[in-house]
Amino acid sequence: MSKKAIVTGGSRGIGAAIVETLTREGFEVVFSYLSNKESAENLVQKITDQGGRAAAFQLDTSDYESAVNFVNQAKEFLTEVDVLINNAGITRDKSLFIMQKDEWDSVINTNLSGYFNVTRQLIGYFFKNKRGCIINVSSVSGLVGIAGQTNYCASKSGIIGFTRALAKEAAKLGIPVNCIAPGYIDTEMTRQLPEKHLEEIKNMIPMHRIGKAQEVADLVSFLCSEKARYITGQVFAIDGGLTA
Ligand SMILES: NC(=O)c1ccc[n+]([C@@H]2O[C@H](COP(=O)([O-])OP(=O)(O)OC[C@H]3O[C@@H](n4cnc5c(N)ncnc54)[C@H](O)[C@@H]3O)[C@@H](O)[C@H]2O)c1
Repeated sequence: MSKKAIVTGGSRGIGAAIVETLTREGFEVVFSYLSNKESAENLVQKITDQGGRAAAFQLDTSDYESAVNFVNQAKEFLTEVDVLINNAGITRDKSLFIMQKDEWDSVINTNLSGYFNVTRQLIGYFFKNKRGCIINVSSVSGLVGIAGQTNYCASKSGIIGFTRALAKEAAKLGIPVNCIAPGYIDTEMTRQLPEKHLEEIKNMIPMHRIGKAQEVADLVSFLCSEKARYITGQVFAIDGGLTA
């Protein structure tokens, strides 16, 4: 029987690579989109054409009621859920002395409270079934401080604390909860950075290159496989050696 996964923020970037990888591996997947319904539908069509099964529903992770509706729709489509991948996230980079309250709130509400809002809808279900697996996408910005990212670093560090505490709550039921911390990965998020800044970043990375979304998806694929069942409460950096 195929396994079933929910991926937030799956219509592009790292999330889309995770959705495509899991469906290629035989998972049935529900993923969310925020506003770009067309690109979500195109991805569903692509997966369907390849013989996979997927659906996309709208979700704003920062809105609790939206998370309730999204998970209900996902459960209806999948009938069962084995894996949750919290991936949706945003940046609003600015030095703290000019950061506006809405730039702080939107990042914390989407990235950190958003992971609570979605996970809260599934955790009781996973506990009841004594089955499940959760992977939270944090960032190297959760491991080290980066100037201009107080809001983002706070949210991504928070995700690491959330992961470790939940891993201890879930361990007795055999449910792994892990975190991944990507470095600089080639997606629309990093394509916003000026070319000159990207070149400086590449020089800082021991492997001298930006990572690929597929490389992150391959790590996620391993962590939600049976091969990773004894790993929980951990943070896996995937960053070309940046935090080595
Ligand atoms: N690209 C990188 O270099 C990098 C590095 C470290 C961590 N990350 C993390 O990886 C995850 C994916 O990032 P990406 O690079 O693919 O970025 P991206 O901007 O391409 O994708 C982000 C996804 O999140 C969704 N999203 C944004 N706000 C949302 C909201 N309020 N509700 C629901 N969905 C929302 C977007 O629609 C999009 O699908 C994020 O959590 C990001 O912080 C990315």
